[in-house]
Amino acid sequence: MTNAQKWLAAFLVVFVVLFLIGRATKKEETPSQIPMGMLSETEQSVNENADGKTLTVQLGCISCHGENLEGTKLAPSLEFVKNNWMRDNLINYLRNPSSYAGDKRFEGYRAKYPNVIMPSYNNIDVKDLGKIADYLLSR
Ligand code: HEC
Repeated sequence: MTNAQKWLAAFLVVFVVLFLIGRATKKEETPSQIPMGMLSETEQSVNENADGKTLTVQLGCISCHGENLEGTKLAPSLEFVKNNWMRDNLINYLRNPSSYAGDKRFEGYRAKYPNVIMPSYNNIDVKDLGKIADYLLSR
């Protein structure tokens, strides 16, 4: 081997080792309690033709609220949404959940799900939030 080849080989080894270390540490940092689906970029891209139900899947709502939004140990059931919400308030809530923190029901949720935070969906098209609201209110 020439000197140049030796350097090249050394660089390759260093690169591969760094890559492997990067991957190994990344896995360890993944919080086990928070489902990964909602953190991934691809799931944030919303299909224009999706209906409310599909959006709850694409946006990862089901990863906390359960496959049929029946509630899990991470988040409450969304079966009774229509008893508690008007459409406009519900859309506002999805955009900014923390603004409802003082509400009695939400104080209960804070105690029950202390490590999970309902994300704010203020980066999602209001039209899509409307579809989700309609779907939740129609159940
Ligand atoms: C990271 C987990 C998580 C994700 C993802 C999530 N939520 Fe939530 N959600 C919660 C938690 C926890 C609460 C309880 C309220 C609180 O703690 O502030 C909640 C509360 C709610 C409520 C209020 C329930 C009530 O009784 O009024 C609605 C409505 C709701 N979520 C809808 C959604 C929708 C729609 C999506 C997807 C677009 C979604 N959530 C995604 C965790 C999540």
